[in-house]
Amino acid sequence: MTAHNTAVDENRSEIVRRETGLQRLVTAYILAGLLFMLLPGTFLGVWNLLSISSTHTAATLSPAWLQAHGHAQIFGWLGTFILGIGFYSLSKMGNLPAFAISRGWTCFVLWAAGVSMRWTVNVTAWQWRFLLPLSAVLELAAFLTFFRTVAHHRPEQPSATPRPKQPWMLVVVGSTIGFLVILVVNFGVTSYAALRGGSPAIPSPLDQHLLMLPTWGFLVPAVWGFNARWLPVFLGLEAPGARRLYAALLVAWTAAIAMPFGFAVFSAALLPVAALLAVSALHVFKPATQPPKLNGVHASFPIFVRGAYVWLLVAAGLSIAAALADREGGIWGASRHALTVGFLSTMVFAIGQKILPAFCGARVLFSKQLMLASLTLLNLGCALRVGSEIPAYEGYLRQAWSVLPVSAVIELTAVTLFAANLAFTFLRPAAHLLREQQATA
Ligand code: HEM
Repeated sequence: MTAHNTAVDENRSEIVRRETGLQRLVTAYILAGLLFMLLPGTFLGVWNLLSISSTHTAATLSPAWLQAHGHAQIFGWLGTFILGIGFYSLSKMGNLPAFAISRGWTCFVLWAAGVSMRWTVNVTAWQWRFLLPLSAVLELAAFLTFFRTVAHHRPEQPSATPRPKQPWMLVVVGSTIGFLVILVVNFGVTSYAALRGGSPAIPSPLDQHLLMLPTWGFLVPAVWGFNARWLPVFLGLEAPGARRLYAALLVAWTAAIAMPFGFAVFSAALLPVAALLAVSALHVFKPATQPPKLNGVHASFPIFVRGAYVWLLVAAGLSIAAALADREGGIWGASRHALTVGFLSTMVFAIGQKILPAFCGARVLFSKQLMLASLTLLNLGCALRVGSEIPAYEGYLRQAWSVLPVSAVIELTAVTLFAANLAFTFLRPAAHLLREQQATA
């Protein structure tokens, strides 16, 4: 064997070693995200909703428990997914330094510790004056580890004339900056609560206003950015309109900043504008110009992705009604649920079951039928919840209280099916090994 061949072999095995390490890393993030979604997130959400439904009021529920649920879903589930996918995608797109994988694990440990600590402190109130801000420090440290690592990202083949950044990249970078700002604000408010508060909960009005930051300031723009990258391929849509996409981002950010400063009606009125700009920029409801890429997923995939945008518009419209007429939290709750479950979760269920099997070990999704079942139940549960929360909480229709527990159980079933479908997928061999096994069987 020549020295050249040996060098080629060594290079190849190094590439395989890095790819396997990267797949293990992203799988750990996804599994941890699923765990946060199921137990601290959804189970506690269902428990909270059952307590509210049995007393017919949200006023008696511990705000710390409510926030434990929200934090587990937004940071524990969606945040963990985004960090894992971020490490994976940037490593695939270019030259992340060799230490990126070990940094990925450091970030993972800090992040999981921070999010778990926050949930435990919210639920048990144990040593909360010290542990509440510490959880925020750990989350911030994890994010900075991620940020410093991906800041080293360079394109694989630098071209002589640098190409302009694609719109989706700028929106994803924007949402990442939004993520950083939110973690800094989170550190500020948890420190404030630890010094001045009487419990591990962020004072209620402040918490409600700040919720706009992680939702419309970070998660919604992150989805728009990734959609701008993937929808032209997966749904065969026209390339996104850059100016309308940037305008959507700026309007959403303005709304997210205006709310904590007390401009509730102005902030709410901007949300439909931002949502419509994004829908128009991404050509969501226009006919596809190319056939959609449905390999590996259920054929209903494009319907659910488009349906998620219907929920985004519903959430934005309800927020105006909430800013003008909410008395008992029912309209805000319905708007938030349309956004978090209808838009964000439907999108993650749909796109996640398309891309994650490939990212986590070049696998094929375990079951397309489970995918359909999880998405159908999620949307059914969400429709029941959004439809009954306003009449129940606001006191318009007493019977609506009995629909809420049903919606909770349906959504719980949906998230369990989604998690099971991904977990079974990760237990399968890689696609090429599966094909070999099937060929020899
Ligand atoms: C089975 C599914 C779910 C149930 C039963 C549920 C239940 C609840 C309940 C009862 C509240 C209290 C406010 C209200 O009454 O509307 C709430 C708040 C919240 N939920 Fe959920 N939820 C679920 C899924 C989700 C998901 C998937 C997300 C995010 C991706 C999410 C994010 C939030 C947030 C951010 C809050 C506000 C927390 C706060 O006030 O700080 N929820 N949820």
